[in-house]
Amino acid sequence: MSALGWLLRKVFRVTVDLIVILLVLTILPGIPPHVNFTTFEELEPPLPLEGALAKNNILDRVERVLDGKIVGPESIASRQPEEIFVSLHGGKILRIWGHRYDHFKIVTSIGPGCDAPWEEEICGRPLGLRFAADGRLLVADCYLGIFAVDVDTGEKEELFDIKKEIEGEAAMLPNDLDEDQDGYIYWSDASANTHLNKAIIEVLSSPSGRLIRFDPKTKTNQVLVRNLHFANGVQLSDDEQSVLVCETFKYRVLRHWLHGPKAGQTEVFVDRLPGSPDNIRPNGEGGYYIAIISILPETVLKIERIAGRLPWLRKLVTRVLYLTRLLLETIGQLDSSRFIEKTANEIFNFLPISQQNLRHSNFSVVVEVDGEGKIIGSLQGYSGQQVQISEAQQVGDYIFFGSPYNRYLGKLFVGEPPSMEVEGKGVRMKTTDEKEKKSFKSE
Ligand SMILES: *[C@@H]1O[C@H](CO)[C@@H](O)[C@H](O)[C@H]1NC(C)=O
Repeated sequence: MSALGWLLRKVFRVTVDLIVILLVLTILPGIPPHVNFTTFEELEPPLPLEGALAKNNILDRVERVLDGKIVGPESIASRQPEEIFVSLHGGKILRIWGHRYDHFKIVTSIGPGCDAPWEEEICGRPLGLRFAADGRLLVADCYLGIFAVDVDTGEKEELFDIKKEIEGEAAMLPNDLDEDQDGYIYWSDASANTHLNKAIIEVLSSPSGRLIRFDPKTKTNQVLVRNLHFANGVQLSDDEQSVLVCETFKYRVLRHWLHGPKAGQTEVFVDRLPGSPDNIRPNGEGGYYIAIISILPETVLKIERIAGRLPWLRKLVTRVLYLTRLLLETIGQLDSSRFIEKTANEIFNFLPISQQNLRHSNFSVVVEVDGEGKIIGSLQGYSGQQVQISEAQQVGDYIFFGSPYNRYLGKLFVGEPPSMEVEGKGVRMKTTDEKEKKSFKSE
């Protein structure tokens, strides 16, 4: 037998084996992860950066607070001027205060603490923060559940058992929350399929996110909206007639009506956003700031559109990656190799993708909409001073910018600049009392 003939046979054998393995992996039922795959709804491309989304460099003026001292400040809440609270990687809630926001102290840890950055499931990962009417800080921890924290004593209360099923499925990824005047808590479960450290599974599988309402009197949860492709930021409208929820992988925000003639209905509030929306917070004028956490390059969006039509391909990719991760996790534990454990944790994790995105572009954006979802302006940056924003929260004369990937908190002055006024013989500095902020609205 010639050497070439032998080689061709070998290549043929390997190819056939590979095809058989892949077919089995695609077709065989019962292979984890146990999630569904269906064809995705076709989405319109993102809106061009013109008109109200015209390019600007406002975010390049952002100052960094506690640069290098904190990891991943995702969400921001405030109860009084010159004091904010942020949720950090590692499970901690941090209080930051002072005229220049340069004092800081840990309020509490949601979890018991953990050894390695990839042990989030133990440590907890607080995401959305919001002050409740009773003065406590509501915290959505994506592994441990929904908590109310007394920020002065650090005492925390778990509002309900997150492991219990809610209408047939356990919440795997609590993400953000808001409270209405009756004390109901509206919260998002980004995925009933997977935890945050494997969130790419939710990207590839059928949408499983939900908007849920918690009744503190009966301690029960009710699902308001289901099948969301990563339910993220939650925000009640000013009049509390409706609640907004960001649907991250569909680049849009939905409005669910709570009261009035459309009660119970869900509609698109704003879509075709320039990237994936994370949290949404009031702009102080009846509208909202929608923070865009990730902006995918055009080629990736094209691949996403094609993959959306091929559920079997997404199933195959998910299964292969899942089994690889399982294998690495097992080897990592047997071998107690931190390197292998770390590599395993990167499969299905957002983190490597976010780092890859930054190598491609530093473009960052917060979209400003009015109370009806019409885009009225944006805050953009290109220099890398402030990237990958998960929340834009106005406190006094500043807008703060959170990010799960950054080691700083962004802070942008939006008050009136001190103006010089001639008075008698002297010249004195005058600061306007009005809380009127510089408008970012494009004409
Ligand atoms: C993003 O900004 C950083 C500085 O913060 C810079 O080092 C990097 O080269 C920039 N990346 C791109 C793709 O422009």
